[in-house]
Amino acid sequence: CSHAIRGSFFDITRTVSTPDELLDAARYIEDGLLLLNAGKIVSLSPWQEESSQLPPGCELVDYRGKLIVPGFVDTHIHYPQTEMIGAFGEQLLEWLNQYTFPVESQYHCPQHSAQMSAFFLQQLLSNGTTTALVFGTVHPESVDALFSAAHGLGMRLIAGKVMMDRHAPEALTETPEQSYRQTRELIERWHNVGRLSYALTPRFAPTSSPQLLEKVRQLRQEFPDTWLHTHLSENPQEVAWVKALFPENSGYLDVYHQYQLTGRRSLFAHCLHLEDEEWDCLHHTDSAVAFCPTSNLFLGSGLFDLQTCWQKGVKMGVGTDVGAGTTFNMLQTLGEAYKVGQLQRYKLSACEAFYHATLGGAKALDLDRHIGSFMPGKDADFVAIDPAVSALQTLRHGNSRDIWEKLFVLMTLGDDRNIAATWVEGRCVWQCDKSRQAA
Ligand code: GUN
Ligand code: FE
Repeated sequence: CSHAIRGSFFDITRTVSTPDELLDAARYIEDGLLLLNAGKIVSLSPWQEESSQLPPGCELVDYRGKLIVPGFVDTHIHYPQTEMIGAFGEQLLEWLNQYTFPVESQYHCPQHSAQMSAFFLQQLLSNGTTTALVFGTVHPESVDALFSAAHGLGMRLIAGKVMMDRHAPEALTETPEQSYRQTRELIERWHNVGRLSYALTPRFAPTSSPQLLEKVRQLRQEFPDTWLHTHLSENPQEVAWVKALFPENSGYLDVYHQYQLTGRRSLFAHCLHLEDEEWDCLHHTDSAVAFCPTSNLFLGSGLFDLQTCWQKGVKMGVGTDVGAGTTFNMLQTLGEAYKVGQLQRYKLSACEAFYHATLGGAKALDLDRHIGSFMPGKDADFVAIDPAVSALQTLRHGNSRDIWEKLFVLMTLGDDRNIAATWVEGRCVWQCDKSRQAA
């Protein structure tokens, strides 16, 4: 045993297929002890006085008063858009042209990529996010920098270079052959190196020619254990554009499906305007979706239909989608997810919300064998949350009756100030600076 962590623990211990099963699968241990060894979880049990006799060499970390949950999983985010959060006034297609593409053009530069990668990963960790599925830019340099920085931290991360060959500025487009070659080189350099994995990342159908999609299909066949990460059905104009560009296909998802890009390790961000058959196709192919509430509200894209997602049996995770999303923080993102539910009469409970942000997200990424709960053998990736860091939070926390109310208050009032410490692979990689917080 390397570390023993004492505190309050909450997790969902197994994946579920309906929200009714969640209460049964949830576990709360008010005074517990988590044992770690070699970057993995050994056990989680209630604290007993004998627990204080730890094996020699095992360091006790006292997080009493903190709520410890599995590290958050962000299933959709763009690291090169960190510097453009809060771009005013446009919906998706104009937003891309006016704001996104100019910013992404800078990532041909390895220095800029390295600097922004370091900043981005610090943002993830200081917000309690220990695993993410990440878009780079079209430049291989952007992905080299990100993987290199994540490797240094020991983070579990899935990322890929954007593939795009049309409907974008010259500086951000490539030929299908170039895209194939550069992607292949990146897979060979990074896929399965430590805890890093590669995601084939065609931006979305409108920036992909049939020839490019054919190259993506070929890569997926050659590297069947890589991930596929793209956007789907985010904005009504975008959906209409895809129908015009691919008139032979029955709909937006059918374009990806035709090139065999659906499947167990495929993740489609947004999915706001799907036809019934598209939900069925996602289910039958065991594909997953990312619900990105702050982005969907910020760009005015639409409301994600949680109820249909459960009913259709489609795996779902939560994404921040920075920089269309407005925060790296998963607590704030869950609070916005709740409001998206409210607009459709869907009651997103705290238990369900935390499931989506941890084990559910892990399942969506086909990583639930490795992360998402405190089951023995999983990676020791977790976050210690301070439940009350402001006068208002202290007041509200103080009159919360049970763990459900405390969790719900956290997703309503919480933000990055509540993240006390973040652990990755059994090491503390981020700790809140109390003196700075007081200032
Ligand atoms: N669709 C294609 N590219 C993007 C992007 O960068 N952000 C979002 N939100 N949607 C997209
Ligand atoms: Fe996105």
